[in-house]
Amino acid sequence: MNEVKVAMVGFGGIAQSHKHAYEQLEAAGEPVRLVAICDVDPSRFTSASETNLGAEGAANLAGIRTYTDIEEMMRNEAFDMADICVPSYLHKEYAVKMMKAGKDVLSEKPMALNSADCEEMLRTARECGRKLMIGQCLRFEPSYLYLKQCIDSGCFGRLKNLFMDRLSVHPMWGFEQWYTKTEKSGGCILDLHIHDIDMARFLLGEPESVSTVSYDDITRWQVVNTRLFYKNVTVIATATWDEAPTTKFSAGFRARFEQASVVLNNEGLTVYPNSGKPYHPDIPRANRMAEEIRKLASMVRDRSQTNEANPPESAWQTVRLIERLRESADQGGKRIDIQA
Ligand SMILES: NC(=O)c1ccc[n+]([C@@H]2O[C@H](COP(=O)([O-])OP(=O)(O)OC[C@H]3O[C@@H](n4cnc5c(N)ncnc54)[C@H](O)[C@@H]3O)[C@@H](O)[C@H]2O)c1
Repeated sequence: MNEVKVAMVGFGGIAQSHKHAYEQLEAAGEPVRLVAICDVDPSRFTSASETNLGAEGAANLAGIRTYTDIEEMMRNEAFDMADICVPSYLHKEYAVKMMKAGKDVLSEKPMALNSADCEEMLRTARECGRKLMIGQCLRFEPSYLYLKQCIDSGCFGRLKNLFMDRLSVHPMWGFEQWYTKTEKSGGCILDLHIHDIDMARFLLGEPESVSTVSYDDITRWQVVNTRLFYKNVTVIATATWDEAPTTKFSAGFRARFEQASVVLNNEGLTVYPNSGKPYHPDIPRANRMAEEIRKLASMVRDRSQTNEANPPESAWQTVRLIERLRESADQGGKRIDIQA
């Protein structure tokens, strides 16, 4: 295969970021190309999009064929990989459909609304011999990879504690306001908090026990605070969909090591050593969406490659852990054993 041809399903907010990633990869000579897009709402092809990072102008779709009917797209287009950017409640249905049609699949996070649906996706990938990647994109983000390197190498000594946060207004945008319906989005805990919970698992593995407190408003689990207890370290993660509409989205971490703090906030990544001046570490300038697409496309071309960075089995385990956090939250923050 010379070039991996991609068809996208859903062209709302996150799809536009994916499209930028394809443009970057194509400009860099990477053999992967977006050839077609399907969205049930044709106005998406000509109008601006909105995400928690703000609104964007209409995309330039020159050279890309557009469809409003997925069956028609599948009949007309010869593509290798499907990029699923529909709302979360449709991930399983479309990922399974595409894999059964012989396509490899990138599907946005959360993997699905519940762990049973994740299991069906994994089973389909196995039975159909397809590559499946879930868009847990932080696993490709240079500042989080730097943090992982600090933890694994012990360059600042042992990690003592880690705070992570992700603060957003309530997402009132999106297709038929699907974010505002818990049964469609899973609430902030599954949609937003999942990034940090997945990252904690990526950095440190499975916690020994967990405790979550949360409150409900427009959606269930709208503001959440979780403690993940590991043997020698506690991770404290907060996520909210309840910021004032005039605030800006913010996300980051504060990692306290024995010899330094490593901090990511809207100003960037900074190391604060116990002695000496703070500095910005030299990290690659990479687009995490482009990196995840690059990795999957390369696995599509060379099928012997495996996906150690972001296996779908791990995305499933993250959804399972979110289910345990909900159990804890629904019992007022009860500490729940995970590894027992
Ligand atoms: N990785 C990240 O950081 C990140 C960030 C934002 C959103 N997301 C995830 O991406 C997914 C999409 O979120 P969004 O904010 O782009 O939502 P959105 O509502 O803006 O976009 C979804 C698009 O899907 C289209 N659609 C709905 N039903 C369809 C169908 N049956 N067939 C084809 N198209 C259909 C809608 O018209 C809409 O354009 C969600 O699962 C969300 O959790 C991930």
